[in-house]
Amino acid sequence: MVILEGKGLTKYFRGLSALQSVDFKVEEGSITGLIGPNGAGKTTLFNLISGLFSPNHGTTTFHGMDITHLRPDRICHLGISRTYQLIRPFLGLSVLRNVLVGIYYGRDGTLPKKKAEEEAGSILEFMELSSKATYRADQLNTGERKRLEMARALGTNPKVLLLDEVIAGLNPAETTTIMKRIEATRDKGVTVFMIEHVMKAVMGLSDRVIVLHHGEKIAEGTPQEVTTDPGVIKAYLGDKRI
Ligand SMILES: Nc1ncnc2c1ncn2[C@@H]1O[C@H](COP(=O)(O)OP(=O)(O)O)[C@@H](O)[C@H]1O
Ligand SMILES: [Mg+2]
Repeated sequence: MVILEGKGLTKYFRGLSALQSVDFKVEEGSITGLIGPNGAGKTTLFNLISGLFSPNHGTTTFHGMDITHLRPDRICHLGISRTYQLIRPFLGLSVLRNVLVGIYYGRDGTLPKKKAEEEAGSILEFMELSSKATYRADQLNTGERKRLEMARALGTNPKVLLLDEVIAGLNPAETTTIMKRIEATRDKGVTVFMIEHVMKAVMGLSDRVIVLHHGEKIAEGTPQEVTTDPGVIKAYLGDKRI
């Protein structure tokens, strides 16, 4: 079943089109990859889905419900959460409190303090950050910060999780750790839509892959189909090891 769908999504910035009539579908329970060169419009697509920007044209539906012009907090409360490419944890707050922010503000309705803290604890355990729960976020290394970003997003109890380059820039051990966490997230029933440049990760994890180039969708299919598509190789994959 399709959980998230975009139709004809178009976004202009000062007359330049960042996205041009993009259609996409994300199947419930799947991992869908979103790839393409820098400036292709990947983050813009996530900004439209999460309500940060409104599209100039087109619609987004979640479980068949039109969410195109809803506010970001409403979209989050409905069950779509995201991470940011430029992660922005609350650096002066503890790791646990960063996750509590997601739990308190990202959900419809409030949890009692004790229940919220228990949940934050179990999310940190799930993200392999328990040992850092009392650290300030600015004491974490890059890999841990990316996992905290994901933990904060999971705190909102999403049905769909949008991940914007959570792997890029990590060393091989950190990459393996977070890839396993992404798979485990999907196994918990959360649908994952992920932007990623690290081909080993995106091709290894994704059921389907969508390719953007200059704001247009140039291909979609299984990792195998996409990596052998001549248009994709020319636009993006030519210089990448898969
Ligand atoms: N807030 C913005 N204001 C103006 N231009 C933007 C803004 N966000 C993105 N763009 C432009 O839109 C295009 C797509 O950007 P982006 O979605 O960030 O690409 P990607 O994530 O694929 O690298 C780029 O040309 C970028 O400069
Ligand atoms: Mg981006």
